[in-house]
Amino acid sequence: MEDYRVADIGLAGEGEKLIRWAEAHMPVLMKIRGRFSDERPFEGIRIGCCLHVTKETAVLIRTLVAGGAEVALCGSNPLSTNDAVAAALAEGGVHVFAWRGQSRDDYYWCIEQVIGHGPSLVHDDGADLIATIHERHGGLLDRITCGFEETTTGVLRLKAMEEEGVLGFPIIAVNEARTKRLFDNRYGTGQSVVDGIMRATSVLLAGKTVVVCGYGWCGRGIAMRARGLGARVVVCEVDPVKALEAVMDGYRVMPLSEAARLGDIFITATGCEKVIRREHMELMKDGAILANAGHFNVEIWIPDLEELAVGKEQVKPCVEAYLLPDGRKLYLLGEGRLVNLVCADGHPPDVMDMSFSNQALCAEYAIKHGGELEPRVYLVPEEVDMAVAKLKLEALGVRIDELTPEQEAYLASWRLGT
Ligand SMILES: NC(=O)c1ccc[n+]([C@@H]2O[C@H](COP(=O)([O-])OP(=O)(O)OC[C@H]3O[C@@H](n4cnc5c(N)ncnc54)[C@H](O)[C@@H]3O)[C@@H](O)[C@H]2O)c1
Repeated sequence: MEDYRVADIGLAGEGEKLIRWAEAHMPVLMKIRGRFSDERPFEGIRIGCCLHVTKETAVLIRTLVAGGAEVALCGSNPLSTNDAVAAALAEGGVHVFAWRGQSRDDYYWCIEQVIGHGPSLVHDDGADLIATIHERHGGLLDRITCGFEETTTGVLRLKAMEEEGVLGFPIIAVNEARTKRLFDNRYGTGQSVVDGIMRATSVLLAGKTVVVCGYGWCGRGIAMRARGLGARVVVCEVDPVKALEAVMDGYRVMPLSEAARLGDIFITATGCEKVIRREHMELMKDGAILANAGHFNVEIWIPDLEELAVGKEQVKPCVEAYLLPDGRKLYLLGEGRLVNLVCADGHPPDVMDMSFSNQALCAEYAIKHGGELEPRVYLVPEEVDMAVAKLKLEALGVRIDELTPEQEAYLASWRLGT
């Protein structure tokens, strides 16, 4: 078996600098790393990770290594790997199987390498690693103590496995921690998706009509940041409560069949497939820009775009123009994959500090309590979520109030009314 496979190991020096930069902005995870170095909770443990190979992920991987783990890592998207970071990790002894621009076969080959490494803990983002273990390596299920899932789409897939009764080991849904999705999905995605669109296209957002499909945690963040830059934001939803929330947050809400004619920029963040499809593309303005923030490249239905188009041209990195028979052009960013990771650097380190601290602490929790867990999808333990929030506040130098014993008693009592 190979030790690693990356695009160019010569990029390690550049990757090292990026990782240092991320470390300087991830104080909570670095504090956890310090403790792990002393306590070595993962001594002799093999950990398999399928995560976007970014500088922030490198900080997590090195934290697990500091805790004694031997780690194998592959990317969780064929286009999201930072080759310099992958090289730096590989040079430091991590079994990295990742490079930017993979075919589907490459992608699954890398996942197989991580599985071949024999992990007993697995960190996943989108559940491709965990699903592959279940589909192709059923014999390994008993050897895995616990899995950890980073994103909404992955959690949905794993819950579906639990419901079907096929889940073979416990999962902790890291995405569901409040210190993860309230910040990562909202502020992280909000900022980095807009960053990705701006880096790829350099268009002015002020005065543009931005259509956001999905008003969940990611959609809220994207809508908020696009509005902050002066865009007129239209929200499309299928959930009446979320739609109402968008209305009261001050956005126009309408079906995509109406918004399709108005939008200059369309951004999907639903976790659903075929959200933007032929019937919408047929109505769009010449020059409309299409970007996806959801986990898989199924939200903008590319087969429809391919079928509709009479020609296709790469107009700049990350931007493909699809020429329609009537002369209109629609621009697809980053091949319809996560625009923030493909066209920019992904989430800021400050926010991944919390997401990956949850990952690290959940791994430690699984080492201590794995034996008590059943093959189900668990929420992040409250003590982990709270520990991350407290450490982040501490790192930010923010102090908060504490309940007095009298207030605690009041809040726990039903006796006191008007
Ligand atoms: N780009 C990133 O870095 C990043 C970060 C976090 C999450 N994600 C991914 O983004 C997606 C959304 O995550 P989230 O945490 O916001 O989920 P969420 O469940 O909070 O929100 C999704 C929203 O989309 C709506 N929706 C579903 N199908 C729809 C459709 N056909 N049309 C319109 N609206 C629809 C749902 O009603 C819901 O309100 C997931 O795939 C998740 O894995 C990406």
